[in-house]
Amino acid sequence: MNTSLQTRLFAAITAIGGYVPQNRRTNNDLEKVCDTSNEWIIKRTGIKERRILEEDLATSDMAVRAILNMVQAYNKDLQDIDALIVATSTPDMLMPATANIIAEKLGLKSVWAFDMNAACSGFLYALDMGASLIETKRYQNVLVVGADNISTYVNEQDRSTNILFGDGAGVVWLEASLEGGIMDAYLRSNGSGREFLNIEAGGSLYPLDKELMSSERRYLRQDGKAVFKQAVQSMSDACLHVLEKNNLTIDDVSWLVPHQANQRIIDAVGRSINIAEGKTLSNIEYLGNTIAATIPLCIWENIKRMKTGDLVMLTAFGAGFSWGASLLRWMA
Ligand code: COA
Repeated sequence: MNTSLQTRLFAAITAIGGYVPQNRRTNNDLEKVCDTSNEWIIKRTGIKERRILEEDLATSDMAVRAILNMVQAYNKDLQDIDALIVATSTPDMLMPATANIIAEKLGLKSVWAFDMNAACSGFLYALDMGASLIETKRYQNVLVVGADNISTYVNEQDRSTNILFGDGAGVVWLEASLEGGIMDAYLRSNGSGREFLNIEAGGSLYPLDKELMSSERRYLRQDGKAVFKQAVQSMSDACLHVLEKNNLTIDDVSWLVPHQANQRIIDAVGRSINIAEGKTLSNIEYLGNTIAATIPLCIWENIKRMKTGDLVMLTAFGAGFSWGASLLRWMA
């Protein structure tokens, strides 16, 4: 008998919160600024509207609101937090880390706070890092945030991107459990994908100057078709890999929570892994792609449907390329 399996300590999600800005950018708004139509956008992406953060606010403001929402809903004490991981590609500043800014805004004076940038896979990367901190028993209460103010980097007139992206933040609280929690994860990256999806300017390679400020290179740019194909393949492969490794079949999974990039991608992944109808969660219709926030926001909005003990598969794909899948037992 394998005794190490019997005494395994899991990192379980014990609370969850979210925040989306009030301002809506509808398909009709986009029809006014570029050559597109409400019908085309719905048919090709499934998106009707996205939320856009006020100009004088930043990623940390949404994250703080998501965390406060969670603390209030679950009656948690902020002072118990000993680590805060923030998955974001749109930090408030290049430095310090947005996690530091969030900790300061929450009045957390002695917390290990750091950022993780894995674009749309960021939440899954950060979740596995957070789970590892709990499993080592060095940290007892770990917050994992996925937050992005991506609208800052979307050219409002560019119909190849403006239809897809919106702002938001989601957060989960991780604690130790002997019953269940994060069971496994498979996370991968391939830097050769960077040419297909990136925000080129603003880093140390192409620092922003006057010329770059008015160039397309300061915005998110992508080869939509290449990204679409790779996203379906990578997320499907990652889910099947995790199932096989854990001797499970797709019928054991209660819920699939895929990254929300395009409803057609979500549907294609579902078909490819053969998940039963009604088990795939989606909120893309009214939020679009909120980058690192899509998965926690999607769980948060569907929380009433999840029962303790449900097996949940999360999967994501994003710039890098970065991708993966996580399997968890729902304990909240
Ligand atoms: N409105 C209206 N027409 C549009 C349009 C828009 N916003 N964008 C493209 N078109 C037109 C094209 O010009 C083309 O016209 P043509 O047939 O006359 O040449 C036609 O629609 C098809 O264009 P195409 O680029 O093939 O569309 P698509 O079905 O691939 O959809 C995306 C484009 C961007 C929605 C899709 O490729 C996608 O979602 N890709 C993945 C992006 C993604 O997920 N990125 C983030 C990853 S985390």
